[in-house]
Amino acid sequence: MRFSKELSRISKLDRYVRPDKVQGAIKLDSNENFALDRGFIAAVAKDAAKRVDLREYPIDELEELYAKLAEYAGVSEKYVGVGSGSDQIIELLLTTLAVNGARATVFVPTFSYFINRCELHGILVDRVPLDGDFELDAAMFALRAKKADLVYLCSPNNPTGGQIPRKIAAGIIDELDDKLILVDEAYADFAGYSLAKLATKRENVIVLRTLSKAFGLAGARVGYMVTNEKLASVFNSTIQTPYPVSTLSLAIASSVLERSVHVAKTVEAVKSERERVAKRLARIAGIRVFRSDANFLLIEAGRKYRTIADTLEKRGIVVKLLGNVAGHPGCMRVTIGTRRTNSKFVECVEEVVA
Ligand SMILES: Cc1ncc(COP(=O)(O)O)c(C=O)c1O
Repeated sequence: MRFSKELSRISKLDRYVRPDKVQGAIKLDSNENFALDRGFIAAVAKDAAKRVDLREYPIDELEELYAKLAEYAGVSEKYVGVGSGSDQIIELLLTTLAVNGARATVFVPTFSYFINRCELHGILVDRVPLDGDFELDAAMFALRAKKADLVYLCSPNNPTGGQIPRKIAAGIIDELDDKLILVDEAYADFAGYSLAKLATKRENVIVLRTLSKAFGLAGARVGYMVTNEKLASVFNSTIQTPYPVSTLSLAIASSVLERSVHVAKTVEAVKSERERVAKRLARIAGIRVFRSDANFLLIEAGRKYRTIADTLEKRGIVVKLLGNVAGHPGCMRVTIGTRRTNSKFVECVEEVVA
């Protein structure tokens, strides 16, 4: 039976491991925005719950969200698509625009979900390594990508944190004008630039964004994309399912976008904390911190990795333990949270290494 052969192939692929939920822990493992007050999001959700009628399918709320997202991204609504998290948009694009046997070029390390979904769908993945400082050799990348159908640029990159300089990213896009290019900007709100406007003018570029990070709505599952008018229209009318996001999530998302000035303040706080934490960690012997344009830091702890990991666990601080990342031993990815939680993390590392 064909399906059992396929099931057997799929069962051997990398599986998604959901992070453990440790009660009462300081959660610094999934790059959510805890600088945004829980009460703020709860109040918005309560208000949204009062406004919507869950007996109806979400129609007006979707239209309202397109408008709010377009305004935030600085583009017209006709360039915007919405999904149940950017995860779902990636999944849909891979299953419709990249056929089985297609080839994708990515640089590594990068967002493992993207690679895993390609492998699930039989898309061959060419991995171009970043250099020792996790910088991209753009010429080599473009050369390799010429053999691909699909190109994935994570900007800023997860788990390294760095954003490819704008000129370099634009140069790669110029060279690869016959490839489908997905620019994953899940963390762009914390970074220097977005290619959303550029994507509206190209036939082959899709910028993926999300409200899960800066906007504090990981639980609401709202992602969006910005691309040219034709692709956006086909995505919304044919590729996307009719009602991918619940009325409640749509209404919450629109309300939080209305309060984007408040969100931006928390983003600025996270960015300044990111620099403070990076500076303090860089002073610790044996610890290396990589440049980040996102709301997290990648730290190479080398031989101190196990001791730091054990101590963090004892103190109820949960970070993403990655181990060896592209030859860098003992790496962990740490979300930048509030000043208090960030300080707890740094103090723990300082104490262990002293
Ligand atoms: C680079 C990147 N893209 C996309 C996502 C998925 O975000 P969403 O919650 O919108 O599915 C994440 C989440 O961690 C991410 O790190």
